[in-house]
Amino acid sequence: MTYHTGFTCVACGAQHADPSLAGPCPSCGGNLDATYDYARITREIDPRAIAGSADRSIWRFGPFLPVNPAVLAGVGDGLRRVGDSPLLHARRLGARVGATNLWLKDDSRLPSSSFKDRASAMVVARALETGRNVIATASSGNAAAALAAMAACAGVETVIFVPRGTPEGKLAQMLVHGARVYIVDGLYDDAVQLCDQACRRFGWWNRSTGVNPYTREGKKTAGLEIAAQLGDATHPFRAPDAVVVPVGDGNIISGVYKGFRDLLSVGWIPRLPRFYAVTATLAPSLIRAWRAGIETFDLVPATTIAGGISVDRPNDGAMAIRAVRETGGDFIEATDGEMLEAMGELARFEGVFAEPASAAGWVGVKKALASGRIGGAECVVQQLTGSGLKDTRSALQAAGKPTVVKTLEEL
Ligand SMILES: Cc1ncc(COP(=O)(O)O)c(C=O)c1O
Ligand SMILES: [Zn+2]
Repeated sequence: MTYHTGFTCVACGAQHADPSLAGPCPSCGGNLDATYDYARITREIDPRAIAGSADRSIWRFGPFLPVNPAVLAGVGDGLRRVGDSPLLHARRLGARVGATNLWLKDDSRLPSSSFKDRASAMVVARALETGRNVIATASSGNAAAALAAMAACAGVETVIFVPRGTPEGKLAQMLVHGARVYIVDGLYDDAVQLCDQACRRFGWWNRSTGVNPYTREGKKTAGLEIAAQLGDATHPFRAPDAVVVPVGDGNIISGVYKGFRDLLSVGWIPRLPRFYAVTATLAPSLIRAWRAGIETFDLVPATTIAGGISVDRPNDGAMAIRAVRETGGDFIEATDGEMLEAMGELARFEGVFAEPASAAGWVGVKKALASGRIGGAECVVQQLTGSGLKDTRSALQAAGKPTVVKTLEEL
């Protein structure tokens, strides 16, 4: 049973009543956004059955997904591990900045230690459903590591294109899971272009962020989960006041936003949270477009240490801008120094080891509180997106080096 009806084009607005589309808009080449029969979901699905389901994985949200979870019956349990990441009440961190209702959604606890497992699991499940056996992706590291891990659970082959400078931890993950890995001698944007060309030439399915409409559908499960975790017996789903997300291509924020929009569409929440997008100062393409009030993006080479958000030209930028604009949120910048400091604070005050891109969210929370864009008593969810273990070079930069000793006198 699926409620998926087709796709709308983010760029030209065309409606495609064809749920089998798997790439860009056939009319204009823009990104597609999956559509659902919300009226039927409202009639047929009980929110309590989903919120209280014994299945805690992303697959419990079946009515809102473009894939029938039954397809997983044919493979092992690997793909069922995705979802149910903790929502931590960050009391110590919050107390430092006067925020009493601050929550960390910790997706570094997913199988490959990043948020990207949500998207990759959805793409791999769809590949199983449609009999595709090679998936390729461009990635700054986490999406590829997640794809390699999820594809391994299903016996699907993967081909990866990453830019130079991808941290060893992420490269090791892809290789260990059996991916064919190419390091592209260029920017992330060059990896995106080469992957696209290779998919056309060799007939591989392109999972690259934005181009593949299934990634957003996987990512929206974070929004659905947050709302279920904040819910109670009376209101099985509840929206926070604000959600803060680190942003590179803009696919994570557009996904989390879509999760809440789905819930609003079926009347399970009364309003959307405000979305705050945190971008790196040294990856300015998206925030420049936001400030100019446009949805087209210049290629500006990104140089930030935060690999996950080091994007030269965002591949899901228009949806990211809409998530922020339509909810009354804002864009916020984080410098490399601020992200390293934020890594230290998350680690020392909440025991969370975040990579720099993930720590950017905490920079955003602090700035939004300081400027009054978020109030101290508001319910704020900060999305954590990747583990610090993936990029230990940055962690050591943030934390310093240990002292070598031999005797008691030297302590
Ligand atoms: C750790 C981390 N945080 C945030 C992001 C940003 O996600 P998006 O590119 O969809 O905006 C990424 C993407 O690679 C990431 O790896
Ligand atoms: Zn179009």
